[in-house]
Parts: sequence; structure tokens; C-alpha cells
Amino acid sequence: MKILFATHNNHKVSEIKNMLPEVTIVTLDDVQDEDEIEETGLTFSENAAIKARYYYQKYHLPVIADDSGLVVTALNGEPGVHSARYSPSGSYAANNQLLLEKMANISHREAYFITVICFIDNFGKEHYFTGKITGTITKEEKGTSGFGYDPLFYVPEFRKTFAEMSLAEKNKISHRALALNQFKYYIQNIFQKNR
Ligand code: IMP
Repeated sequence: MKILFATHNNHKVSEIKNMLPEVTIVTLDDVQDEDEIEETGLTFSENAAIKARYYYQKYHLPVIADDSGLVVTALNGEPGVHSARYSPSGSYAANNQLLLEKMANISHREAYFITVICFIDNFGKEHYFTGKITGTITKEEKGTSGFGYDPLFYVPEFRKTFAEMSLAEKNKISHRALALNQFKYYIQNIFQKNR
């Protein structure tokens, strides 16, 4: 089976290739696609679907697209679907600074990371897979690995922020890993049925 993974992010590509060795993954870099798609959805599912539908119509191949972000309860769900461009510059450092400022006088610090994967199969049918991990927002950055909001996202069960974990550790429990695991389970079932 050949699936187009609608991303330019090499980190995501190697993660999925590792998890699904039986599937041939083609990426946007492989097809040299530089199209800019506006993620105008109000939810993570809508944004994942916008990307998946666009590339399915363009390439007529099964497609996976994902959308992720951080949801902070006390901020009514911010940064949410705006996670990548929360601050004006959109840099990781500025996004983190803005989040810390908004949380300065807030004691209820619960948050979760979420990933929604939209998979469009070769019949054009859409399937959704969601992964979530709950934690709290720290009062200052801790740790140096990972990316984005990792230094501010504390996972109580591990007593570490995402940025204090090794990549292998994070990849076992992260929202993306959980969503990918569900997708993997689904795809493997299809393979078994067709055997
Ligand atoms: P994307 O949809 O996977 O590109 O994620 C959108 C934005 O959410 C990223 O630019 C980050 O700001 C944030 N984000 C998503 N996943 C993570 C993560 O695992 N760690 C830290 N930030 C993340």
C-alpha cells in the first residue's frame, strides 16, 4: 500500500516510517509539492481534513494529514488551532513567552496536547484518529530537547516536561504517537483481512 503523508516535517516522516514498515510512505518532499494550504478550520479535525482532501484530490492517492496543538483549559482552549502562530512572530521562543505571560496569575494550569490524523482511503472515505496527553503548564521553561511548547509542558506521571525527556521517551507517550498508534492498529487490521 502506498500512502501520501501530507507533511514536509522529516521528524514526523521518520516516526511514521518506523511505525509502519509495511506501508510505502510518500511525502510532499518526494513529490516536490510546495503548495501552501491555509488551515482555516476551527478545529484540529477540520484542519487535518482540509489538508487531506486537498492532496487526495490532487494526487488520487490515499492520504494522511495531521494537525496538532496545545489546549490550555484556563485560557478557554488557547492556543489551540493557533498553536503554531500564537505570537506575532510565531517563533517557538515568542510563543512560549506569550503563554507564560498569559498564565502569570493563573493557578489552574491544566493543559493537553492533541493530534488528529485524517486518513482518506483509496475509496475516498475519511477516517479520523485522535491522540491526547494531559499535563500542566510550568511557570518557567524546563529542559532543552524537543520543540515548540515542550519546555512548558509538564507530565506529572514522569515528573518531567516534554523537553526534559529523551525523544524516545516522548515518542512513546506523545499525542502524535498515540494518534499514530491508532492509525497503525487500523491499517494492520486491513492488511490482515486482505491476507
Ligand atoms: P502541527 O500541526 O503538528 O504542525 O503542530 C502545530 C503547532 O503545535 C506546532 O507548531 C507547535 O507549536 C505545537 N505542537 C504540536 N506538537 C507539539 C509537540 O509535540 N511539542 C511542542 N509543541 C507542539
